Parts: sequence; C-alpha cells; structure tokens
Amino acid sequence: MRLINKLNELRSAPAISMHVPGHKNMTVGNLDRLNWMDDMTEITGLDDLHSPEGVLLELNEFLSGKYPGYMAQAVVNGTTTGILSAIYALKDKVDQFVVIDDAHKSVYHGLDLTGASFQKKSSEEILTMELKNKALILTYPTYSGDGIKDLAHIIEKSRAGGAAVIVDEAHGAHNDIAPGFLPSAMNYGADIVVQSYHKMLPALTGASAVFTNDRQLHRTMMKYIDYFETSSPSYLILASIELAHQFYNDFVHTEFYDRRLEIMDYLQSLDFTVIESDDPAKIIINREGMSPYQLIDILDEAHIYSEMVTDEGVLWCLPLFHVGHGYPLSSLFERLDKLSYDGTDPALVRGEDLSFLIGKEAVRTVVPYPPGVPIIHAGEHFTHDIVKTIIHKRYYHVKMEGIEDNIECYKVEDDT
Ligand SMILES: Cc1ncc(COP(=O)(O)O)c(C=O)c1O
Repeated sequence: MRLINKLNELRSAPAISMHVPGHKNMTVGNLDRLNWMDDMTEITGLDDLHSPEGVLLELNEFLSGKYPGYMAQAVVNGTTTGILSAIYALKDKVDQFVVIDDAHKSVYHGLDLTGASFQKKSSEEILTMELKNKALILTYPTYSGDGIKDLAHIIEKSRAGGAAVIVDEAHGAHNDIAPGFLPSAMNYGADIVVQSYHKMLPALTGASAVFTNDRQLHRTMMKYIDYFETSSPSYLILASIELAHQFYNDFVHTEFYDRRLEIMDYLQSLDFTVIESDDPAKIIINREGMSPYQLIDILDEAHIYSEMVTDEGVLWCLPLFHVGHGYPLSSLFERLDKLSYDGTDPALVRGEDLSFLIGKEAVRTVVPYPPGVPIIHAGEHFTHDIVKTIIHKRYYHVKMEGIEDNIECYKVEDDT
C-alpha cells in the first residue's frame, strides 16, 4: 500500500500546503460538508452531466451567475478537457490558431490532435496583426500569477477584427473574487474561458468550469466535452464545484489581506525576499545566500510544500483566508523559525553532458513540470541554449517530461 502509506505520511507530518488545490489540505473553504457517501453516479435524480436537465443544469446555472451573459458547464476532468474541447469547437470555424506567449501542454495537445494550423506570437505582436478568421489562445493569469497588460484591448481588437478568443484561466477561477484581484477575461467578452476551480478555489482536484457566451458555440463545446470527459463523473468533484462557487460568492477579503500581510512580514523578518505578483494570492520567495532550489528542499524538509521552483524563486499559492479557516498559520511560522540552512546547494552539483542533442530533431516534446509549458516541441531542433536550459533544470531536479525519450534515442545513436 505504497500510495496510501505515502499519503498517510504527509497527513501525519502534518504537511503545510502552499500549493494547489485551494482547500490547502482541507483547511480552507467548506469541503467538510462533503461526505464519502456522496460518491454517487448518474442515478435517478442525479441528472446526466453531458445532457443536464435537473440538478446539474441548476449547478451550471449557478456557475453562470458569475458572469451574466455566459453559459457554464461544470467539468470533472480539469481544464485540460475544456482546452481540448475549445480547440475542437473552433477548428472548423477558423483558418488558424494563434498561441499567445507561453501556453500549457494541453493547448499543444489539442492542436496536435486536430492537426490545426497555428503560430506563436507575443501579446505585443498580436496588437499589430491581421486577426480575421483566427482564434487566439491566451493564458491568463500565468502560473506565477502575472496578468496581461493589454488584455481588454487584445480581446476588443480580436472581436472587432473577426477573431475568436479562448482564454485559459486555469489559474484564475478566483479572478474578481474581491477588490485587488485580477479581472476575468469574461469582463471583456472572451468567447471561451476555462477555469480550474481546483487550483486556487477550495474544490477537489479535477474540478473545472467552462464558460461560453454564445449558445451555438456552447452546444459545440458540449459535444466535445462529451467526447473528452469521462462518462462516469465524480459527484464528489461536482459537489465540490458547487461548494467552491458558494465560497467565491460569499468571500470577504479582509481576513485574506490581513493574513497575507502577516505572512509577508514574517518572511521578511527572517531575511526572505518576497516578490508580489499581479494575483495577490501568489508570491515568489527567496532567501539571501541560497538558490531557490536549495530553499525549496529546505522547506520540503520542514514539510512546508510549495507550488513550484524556477530561477526566479519559490512560488507559493497563498490560502484564500476567510473567517473560520483552519489553516495552520502558527505552525507555519514555527517551522519557518526553525529552518536549518545547512546542506549542499544543488547548484554545486555538476551537470551532465547532453551536448549530443544539439542540432538533433526532438522525437518528443520536452515539458518542464511544473509549469507544464513545453520548452521544445517534437520536430523542432535542439539548440545550444535549449540544451543548456535542460541541463540546468535537470541538475536542479526539475521534472522534465519527454527528455528521456530524446536522450535514449540519440544517446544510443551516438554510442554506436
Ligand atoms: C496554464 C495551465 N493551463 C491548463 C492547465 C491544466 O489544468 P487542469 O489541471 O485543471 O487540467 C494547467 C495545469 O497546471 C495550467 O497550468
């Protein structure tokens, strides 16, 4: 029972969560209202997720209340299902997709499956482009909580220029939850918006919602959601979407901003530096005299688990604190006080030689995870800079999906 033992181990540590899901080990939100007995299936009275007419239609209508004018569909297979469905729903309506800035692998998987033509552009470039018959795919906010400066303008220009806009709001289900938070792209009329409720709101992993503002497009989306999503939806996940949405509606921000400030002050008193992001629920932390990769190891050791590490620092997803939350804040402070900074910086470990990859064609897309943004796509050629980045990330133990297949392919060829 390895998995069960590992989970029990984390529970008894007890682990402190600075990562998704937003319920932070069930200390934030109202998921205690769920009962294991709620793991039902589509029996009489529980409706049909892919053709909802009863309680699930009511759930969707409840979600639609977030942005009047939008239709919503609860999803149990995460935002990935919504992104794949969105690309399929638009593939025959547009000549080309335009992927703006970095995008999650699910975007590339959708484009790969459909075989659709696409190009990559930056959010600055898009403002000068001819957009007719194109579909833009934007990621907003980013994994680290950054917004897009000209979001309103980009969407406005796209609509006026005859382009459709898909927004991957996986990290923004809590957009607009209170003053100071980022505004959703739905405020500006994006055509399809997909949000992971499970990331920043207190919902179970897998909980997402798809929003569309056109009935015909919504129907096409429903067709593809039916293709990609399980036909045995988890009612625990569906119920958690309802609870998270109620949480969103009831949220009062005072407690959140007070506790956020307390955490940032505490970190600074211990010689941490804190970088704030556009999303107030994301911060990036560093500590003088060590790399972020060493810092995350030290935090893990103390059972304080972070969301991600990059060269910029360690990313924390802050809890959406509310009155009555059960988040172990004093325990967090005690552990931060006692952190031991001895040990070797993984930066001192020598990197491996992957120079044989330079110039070779990637046989599989390589994706550092997290954040899940591809660094090179299958069919592209490894450059010196890409290989350098891969070596750098690997000796910092960043997980790299797809790299082993490339190494195996060319290492063998090289050895013969
Ligand atoms: C930007 C982005 N989009 C989409 C996804 C996929 O979301 P989900 O895990 O809900 O399928 C992720 C997951 O990390 C992501 O970071």
